Amino acid sequence: MKKQVVMITGALAGIGRATALAFANEGANLIISGRKPEIGEALIKEIRGLGIDAEFVLADVRKEEEVKKLIEKTVKRFGRIDVAINNAGTEGKHASLIDETIENYSSTFDTNVLGTFLCLKYELKVMLPQGSGCIINLSSAAGQKGFLGAGLYVATKHAVEGLTKSAALEAAPANVRVNAVAPGPVETGMLDRFTGDPENKKNFLTTIPLQRAALPEEVAQTIVFLASDKAPYITGQIIGIDGGFLA
Ligand SMILES: NC(=O)c1ccc[n+]([C@@H]2O[C@H](COP(=O)([O-])OP(=O)(O)OC[C@H]3O[C@@H](n4cnc5c(N)ncnc54)[C@H](O)[C@@H]3O)[C@@H](O)[C@H]2O)c1
Repeated sequence: MKKQVVMITGALAGIGRATALAFANEGANLIISGRKPEIGEALIKEIRGLGIDAEFVLADVRKEEEVKKLIEKTVKRFGRIDVAINNAGTEGKHASLIDETIENYSSTFDTNVLGTFLCLKYELKVMLPQGSGCIINLSSAAGQKGFLGAGLYVATKHAVEGLTKSAALEAAPANVRVNAVAPGPVETGMLDRFTGDPENKKNFLTTIPLQRAALPEEVAQTIVFLASDKAPYITGQIIGIDGGFLA
C-alpha cells in the first residue's frame, strides 16, 4: 500500500482508528476524517510520527457539503483517491420497533445510510474517471440477520449491503472495486454501548463460536487485504469477520 492514497471516515476511534494505523504501517498516504478536531490532530501527530504523510479533515458524513469538501480536499492534497473506507457509523438507540421514534430512525439512517451513499457518490465521481480505486463500506452481522432491540440499526446495515452491491456493478466497468466488511462484535465503544453492561456483553460473547469479540486490528487487517493488490478480483462482496457467528 506504499504511497497509496487512503481516505477513512469516522477514523478517530474504534475500527476506523485501527484501520488508519494499519494503513500507516503499510506506508500509505492518509486522509483521516471525523467530527472532533483535537482527537483528529492528535491521531495525525501519531501517524506522522511513523513517517507517514497524513492530514485530518473535519467531516460529518450526514452533511453533503462536508462529504463533498472531504473528497475535494483529498484530491487537492494527494491528486487522487486509491482507497476509501466508509466506516463512520452509529448503533442508534436500542428499542423494540413499537417503541422506536422517527428521531431515532432519522439519526441512525442519516449516519449509516445517507452517510454511506454520500461518500460513495463523491468517491465514485473521482474514481470512475480515474479508472482505478477501491471502496470498502462497513456493514455488520446485523446486515444479514435481525437483532432484538436493534431493528433500525439492522435495517441500516441491510441498506449498506444493497448500496455496496449496486455500487460495485456501477463501478466495475471502470476497474473500481466496491466491497463491504461485516464484523460480528468488535472490542470498541460501540460494542459496549450496544450490549449495555458487562454482564450482557459477556453473555452475548458466549453466543460467538470463537467465544470472544474481534479486536479492531483484526477487522483492519481484512480491510487492508481487500484494498490491496492481493484482492484484485473481489468486488460486490460482503466479507464476514464474525468469529463464526453467522455459520
Ligand atoms: N463494534 C462493533 O461491534 C461493530 C460490529 C459491526 C459493525 N460495526 C461498524 O463498524 C463501524 C465502526 O464502528 P466502531 O465499532 O469503530 O464504533 P465507534 O463508535 O468506536 O467509532 C465510530 C466512529 O464513527 C464516528 N462517527 C459517528 N457518526 C459520524 C458522522 N455522522 N460523521 C462522521 N463520523 C461519525 C464516531 O465519532 C466514531 O469516531 C460502524 O459503521 C459500525 O456500525 C461495528
